[in-house]
This record gives sequence, C-alpha cells and structure tokens, in this order.
Amino acid sequence: MTAETLAHAPTPPGAGIFSTPSPETAGVHSPAGRSHGLPATGFPEGRVPAADPRHFLALEGLSREQLIALIDASARERAWLTLGEPNRTDLAGVTVVLAFIEDSTRTRTSFEIAAQRLGANVVVFSSAASSLNKGETLLDTVRLFEAMGAALVVVRHPSSGAPAWLARQLGTMGVLNAGDGMHEHPTQGLLDLLTLHDAWDGRFDGRRLVIVGDIAHSRVARSAIAGLATLGTRVTVCGPGTLLPADVEQLGCEVAGSLEQALDGVDAVLALRIQHERMAKGLLPSLSEYAGLWGLTPERVARMAPHGVVMHPGPVNRGIELAHEVADGPRSRILAQVANGVAVRCALLKRCADAVRRPHGFTIEVAAR
Ligand code: NCD
Repeated sequence: MTAETLAHAPTPPGAGIFSTPSPETAGVHSPAGRSHGLPATGFPEGRVPAADPRHFLALEGLSREQLIALIDASARERAWLTLGEPNRTDLAGVTVVLAFIEDSTRTRTSFEIAAQRLGANVVVFSSAASSLNKGETLLDTVRLFEAMGAALVVVRHPSSGAPAWLARQLGTMGVLNAGDGMHEHPTQGLLDLLTLHDAWDGRFDGRRLVIVGDIAHSRVARSAIAGLATLGTRVTVCGPGTLLPADVEQLGCEVAGSLEQALDGVDAVLALRIQHERMAKGLLPSLSEYAGLWGLTPERVARMAPHGVVMHPGPVNRGIELAHEVADGPRSRILAQVANGVAVRCALLKRCADAVRRPHGFTIEVAAR
C-alpha cells in the first residue's frame, strides 16, 4: 500500500488511518529505516524529515551535540517554570493541536500545560469524539487543522511510524511524536535524559543504566536506549525472555539474565510498565510471577550504587513493576520525571514553532490546496 492509497483509506474507529499492528506483525522502524530485526510495521517507507526542525519525531539519529542542546534548552525552561511567573507570549497566536489516537494522561496534559504556559491556543482532539469515527482519515482530519491555521500537531498513535508519515504528507505544520506504537516516545526519552542529567551531575559517559520489563513493546525503552547510547551510557536490559526482542543488542544495549545481576553497582534503573494492551496472550505466565522475578523491591534497589536512582514513565502498576516503598522511596525520581516533562515539552514546542514558516497560519493558499 502506498502513501497515496493510505491517504485515502477510511479510518478504522479509534485508530486513524493506520490499523493497530498486532504484536505478531508489528515491529519497529527506526527513522533511518533499520528494523532491528523486528518485523516491519507495514508503513510506507520514505524519507523522514529528521533534520527538519519543524518536526520532533525520534531520538535516534540525533547527535550528541543536538541532545545536549535540547537538555540545556529544557533546563532553561525548567528554571523559568520554577519562578512561578504568569504565562509567556512566545507562542501567542500559535495553534497547537493535540491529536491523541491512543490513551494518555500525563503526556497529553503535560503537552497541554506546556503549550498554555507559552501562550499557545491549544486544541485537544481524540478519536473518540471526532469524525475519525465517521470514517475520515487521520490525514484529512489533520489537514483540516492546517487549513484552520494550526501550526503544530502533537500525535500519539498506536502504529509505529504514524507521526513521521504525517510529517511527510503535511505542507506547513510541524509534527511532534507523543508516542508511536512500539517505535519511539522521544519527549519521554528527553525528559528521562534531563532527569538523569540532574542525578548524574551532567555526566553521561561511563554511567550504567538498567531497563527492566517489557522491552519488546516499549517505545520508552527505544527512545531511552537511542539517547543514552549516543551520550556514552552503557544500557543493560532485562526482563522475561518473551518480552525481549531476539536481537535486542542491535538497539545498542546489553542483556542481563537476572535483575539482581543487572543492578549491581548501577547508576540508575528504568522500570517499564507491563503493556497489557500490546501483548499477545500468553507472553507472561502471571503478574505475580513477573513481580517476583522482575519487580523492583527495596532489597533489589539496594544493590545499586549509593547514588543510583529509580525511574518509571508511568502509569505505574504498584506492587508489580515497583514495590510501594520503592515508588515512594528516596531513590525514586518518578515525580521529577513528570515535572521535567513540562519543561522538555516547552522547549520542543518552542523549537518546532520557531521553525514553522507561518506559525500563525491561516493562508488561503493552504485552505485552497
Ligand atoms: C508511556 C507510553 O504511553 O508510552 N507512558 C507515558 O507516556 N508516560 C509508557 C506506557 O504506557 O507504558
């Protein structure tokens, strides 16, 4: 199926023009087109405008300098946010559409707050109460916003590659990826980097981080690995064999056989949520067995370096991925991650809006196209 036929394909309710990939057939496509040996998404291949500053689609492919510049810009936004000043006007008159074709609490509200703090007009759009349920394609729907003069669209979508595909189709708008299937969640990746930057006094080189859990279905893991590998941090992954992609090392990480072994002396651990919604039945014998082998308990986190921190992208399944004492304990940076998310999204919205040629939109040219 080509991009053109996809553009005219009707929208399955709730999924935009892209059908939800099944765990068996869906996989990961990096912007560079590497599939990491995982099955393809079925997404039309094409040039992803990774270098186009209107878009923010993935951490993979960004250089060390670009990542550090984004961490620094986010830290500056955070310094401003902590002042408790009224909203700024940087994005005054700029319309930002939040198109969430998959559930979200923290990412959506975080983008919404960030856009409002910069003075943007924010439109929240979800598939549930829209024409997507009447068969309109996601592309046609987003083009409506473009014709109405929106400058940016923030997209969360169950299919890997959807935001990059939209970015290729749209004329003027910038696209920010708020999580695409099992591919990337680059704003989460950047907020994880900012959180680690604080915990590690700005030094990523030679540090060690463990990611535990459902690596196979996790866009959070893929963005974290891409960013950290570029910054010189050694990443080790572990989890049930059924939730580790066969050639996971190709992502740029090592694999450990047990959580205990992996945690010895490390500088941070990132626990992932068990993604029931993406999992084929039978990949986990039981949640209690998972908690017993892979859950972060106080005894396990005590194996980390004394300064080692605990992170989780949320939503947390307490008692499964993390014990209560760990989630609320002194090593936990889970709420710092949430706070950093607003700062990161301010920095990215500003960067993308600055790159849109007519951020205040509404040209008859676009409307008539
Ligand atoms: C993650 C997501 O949706 O990718 N959550 C988030 O954005 N903070 C992780 C998850 O749902 O497991």
